[in-house]
Amino acid sequence: MNIQNIRKDFPILKQEIYGKPLIYLDNAATTQKPVSVIEAMNDLYFRLNSNIHRGVHYLSEESTSAHENARKYIADFIHAKHTHEIIFTRGTTEAVNLVAFSFGEKNIQQGDEILVTEMEHHSNFVPWKMLAERKSAKLIVLPFEEDGSLSLEKFQSAITEKTKIISITHVSNVLGTINPVKEMIRIAHEADVPVFVDAAQSIQHLSVDVQDLDCDFLAFSGHKIYGPTGIGVLYGKEKLLDEMPPYQGGGEMISSVSLDKITYNELPFKFEAGTPNYVAAIGLQAAIKYLEDIGMQDVIKYEHDLFAYATEQLLQIEGLKMIGTAKKKTSVLSFVMDGIHPYDMGTMLDKTGIAVRSGTHCAEPVMQHYGISGTIRASVALYNTKAEIDKLVENLNKIQMILS
Ligand code: ALA
Repeated sequence: MNIQNIRKDFPILKQEIYGKPLIYLDNAATTQKPVSVIEAMNDLYFRLNSNIHRGVHYLSEESTSAHENARKYIADFIHAKHTHEIIFTRGTTEAVNLVAFSFGEKNIQQGDEILVTEMEHHSNFVPWKMLAERKSAKLIVLPFEEDGSLSLEKFQSAITEKTKIISITHVSNVLGTINPVKEMIRIAHEADVPVFVDAAQSIQHLSVDVQDLDCDFLAFSGHKIYGPTGIGVLYGKEKLLDEMPPYQGGGEMISSVSLDKITYNELPFKFEAGTPNYVAAIGLQAAIKYLEDIGMQDVIKYEHDLFAYATEQLLQIEGLKMIGTAKKKTSVLSFVMDGIHPYDMGTMLDKTGIAVRSGTHCAEPVMQHYGISGTIRASVALYNTKAEIDKLVENLNKIQMILS
């Protein structure tokens, strides 16, 4: 993997911020986009733009087939059995809401249990809490261990005969923990409970194979995997999706409408009301192609080494405490520093050209677990370098001296 060539593919990385070279370490919030993604979307607007599934003219047919090819490409990328198991959404958040609403509508009754973990992003917590409240069901929250890992024994014990669905993150956006989702799914399936996997923070850093995991649902966002905003993917097993009622009503999700009767379209269209974001779907395909052209295994290896280096270097800073020290982690480095508010550090790092995220990272229960108000979070992607980590460490040390 030639990192300097890769960096050239991301025009945004070339700029200076406050006269300093940009060091972008906020990749868990969103990743930057390679030229090929921007060009794929531009090309569609320049040559083919037309609403999909709705016209008989040339442009509409070309746009439609580009969109459906993107769906097929994404199905292959995550190794879905059927292309129609790929539902386009606005992002992971919408995918969780879709399942919480639609699966919940059909399957959750008063007194049932929905199991999530304490490390979930709000987007994989709030929709389930809302569902539990709507249905007078119970949201059970599995606590994590002090190092930020999950105990499989406690997970198994948390599943009861009332558990109707489990939703877990593959990689925590605060702790960086890689959860043993394959094993968790196996345990859940022994009790016949379906599992939703939030892959928002794993899809860009790990190999994700839905058939190997045997997950029932899985979701990710385009913008975190070098693709555009406004597009995400919900994967669901055909049988479950078939049985679920539509989530939103509108154009294309129907097969016929009369004044007194509506019949719904087949998968995947039943869940895609309204004009889809076909331009972003093509951008997402280009992003995945970009990753595959580099080679996912090379990306994983490069990021693994970079992450290990970053962890080692950060831990040498006096007064720095890592939040999340599980054995298996990727990409995300959250930490606090003695006597320094995360926002102050984030703001001062910004003045050195370094972009990190500070705060609760939309995961307030994680903060409550550790009794902290927030963390400083650096998150790496395939274009970051050890030299950038060195600069981060150098500036953390300098700012610490100034602030204390
Ligand atoms: N979910 C994104 C993050 O963790 C926005 O920053």
